[in-house]
Amino acid sequence: MNALTKITAQPDLDITDIAKARYSAKSYDTSKKISDSDIVKVKELLRFSPSSTNAQPWHFVLASTEAGKERIAKANDEKFPFNGPSVRAASNVVIFAARTEITEDYLLHVLDQEEIDGRFASDPETHKAQMHGGRSMFVNIHKDLDDVAQWNAQQVYLNVGQFLLGVAALGIDATPMEGIDTVALDAEFGLTEKGFTSLVVVAIGYRNAEEDYNAALPKSRLPLADILIEI
Ligand SMILES: Cc1cc2nc3c(=O)[nH]c(=O)nc-3n(C[C@H](O)[C@H](O)[C@H](O)COP(=O)(O)O)c2cc1C
Repeated sequence: MNALTKITAQPDLDITDIAKARYSAKSYDTSKKISDSDIVKVKELLRFSPSSTNAQPWHFVLASTEAGKERIAKANDEKFPFNGPSVRAASNVVIFAARTEITEDYLLHVLDQEEIDGRFASDPETHKAQMHGGRSMFVNIHKDLDDVAQWNAQQVYLNVGQFLLGVAALGIDATPMEGIDTVALDAEFGLTEKGFTSLVVVAIGYRNAEEDYNAALPKSRLPLADILIEI
C-alpha cells in the first residue's frame, strides 16, 4: 500500500466484530507459529501506528526464537512469574519501548525521513521548516512540562492499541502485558543506554482454546451509558 491508496470499506471485514472477538489469550498452542509473511505484516503494524506530530518515539524488540523469548521471560520471572507461560509458549513476543527524551538530532532524523518519503515535494525548504517548527513546538511544550517521557509513552500505548486490533484482524491472538519487569528488561536488552525504556510486552501466536479459560469467557465492558456523553 502506498500513500495514495485510499482506505475503502471492506464489506467482509467489520472492524467492530474484530474488536469484540479479540481477547487476551492466556494459553498458546506451542505447535503453531506465525508465518513469515504475517510477521512482515506484524512489523508493518508496529511502523504504521500514528503518533503525535509523527514523532514515532518508540523502539521494539521482536523475539522470534526460543532463546529470545526465554530472555524476555527470564527477566520477568522474579517479579511477574504469572506472565511467563504466555511469553514462553507464544509464537513471537514484542517488547514495546519508548524514547526517554527527544533530542534535536532525533527531530532532524524524523524530518529527513519525511523528506525521503516525499512529504515536502513542493517548496521543500518552506515545508520542511514548517514541519520542524510545529513538531519542535510540541516537544518544547512537553520539555517545559517536564513530561517528555510520559508524552512518548502515550504514543507507544497508542501503538499497542493499534497493534492489538491489527494482529486480531490478521487472525493472530495476543496477550498485552504490563506485568513485566521494566528495569530487568531494560538491562537485558541495553535499552537504557540507547535512550529507551520498556513499557509493555505483547505475546502473539495462536490460542490453545482447550486450556485457555479466557477463550470461553464472555467479554465484559461497561455499558455505553457509563462511558459516553452524546451531545
Ligand atoms: C496495557 C495492558 C496491560 C495488560 N497487562 C496484562 C498482564 O500483565 N497479563 C495479562 O495476562 N493480561 C494483561 N492485560 C490484559 C487485560 O487484562 C485485558 O485486556 C482486559 O481484561 C480486557 O480483556 P480482553 O483483552 O480479553 O478484551 C493487559 C492489557 C493491557 C491493555
